[in-house]
Amino acid sequence: MILTDKVVLITGASAGLGAQFAKDLVAEGARVFGIARRTERLNDLENELGGAFTGITCDITQEEQVHQAIESVLESAGRIDVLVNNAGLGKFGPADKVTTEEWDLQMNVNLKGVFLATRAVIPVMKQQNAESGFGGHIVNIASVAGLLGNPNISTYNVTKFGLKGYSESLFKEVRQDGIKVSCFYPGSIRTEFFDEAGIPISANPMTPENISSTLVHVLKTPDNYLISEIVMRPLRPKGV
Ligand SMILES: NC(=O)c1ccc[n+]([C@@H]2O[C@H](COP(=O)([O-])OP(=O)(O)OC[C@H]3O[C@@H](n4cnc5c(N)ncnc54)[C@H](OP(=O)(O)O)[C@@H]3O)[C@@H](O)[C@H]2O)c1
Repeated sequence: MILTDKVVLITGASAGLGAQFAKDLVAEGARVFGIARRTERLNDLENELGGAFTGITCDITQEEQVHQAIESVLESAGRIDVLVNNAGLGKFGPADKVTTEEWDLQMNVNLKGVFLATRAVIPVMKQQNAESGFGGHIVNIASVAGLLGNPNISTYNVTKFGLKGYSESLFKEVRQDGIKVSCFYPGSIRTEFFDEAGIPISANPMTPENISSTLVHVLKTPDNYLISEIVMRPLRPKGV
């Protein structure tokens, strides 16, 4: 896909990976819309990136808010070429200490949020495919925790394994509709994720720029070439 003037919707754009994706995709000439709850952070990004970025205050777990957000993108830009399902969080700790609220929060942001945004965007992309022969690209940000179970991250594991299954199913379901589905499985990245997760970050993590450069590469591949899954890791997570 040539990214110039393409319409991109990123969830979780106020920080970390999502904010970096927004910066790099605007630099590629895309029109980027970013969803998050923290309006001030989105405003800062609008000021930094200018008219090519629009922040939309939206809690991705709330069906009506997601509906309104997607409607506002369509009213403003008329199409959605790329959806990056990036909003997510972990609340780490022993399985017998996970609260019901922590379980629900991770399920709602990491899975229900992906479901709500994706369900709304698929018909838009199918229509684009009917009109032009190519529908669009959905990229899901899972984690290595979607491939490997580990102690003290059981709930997060459930959500990211779930996202793996959702991505695989979706990829097979919509490929003939001209819609690409890619799922990323990154290890540790230097973001605010670890403040929320409640564990220290590894000594030598990847950077948001690392992951974002790969996103740009994957989005720019030719229409009939799909990279469906990528595992990303720091080479020396413990440092040299
Ligand atoms: N950092 C890592 O080591 C790592 C590794 C593998 C995978 N990942 C995945 O990468 C993705 C991005 O994480 P990150 O590292 O960039 O973390 P981050 O810096 O904490 O950013 C998380 C983003 O998600 C948004 N978000 C959280 N709850 C939301 C909600 N209810 N509605 C809308 N937006 C919401 C946040 O915005 P607001 O708070 O403003 O709503 C924020 O923009 C997540 O899916 C995470 O699981 C991270």
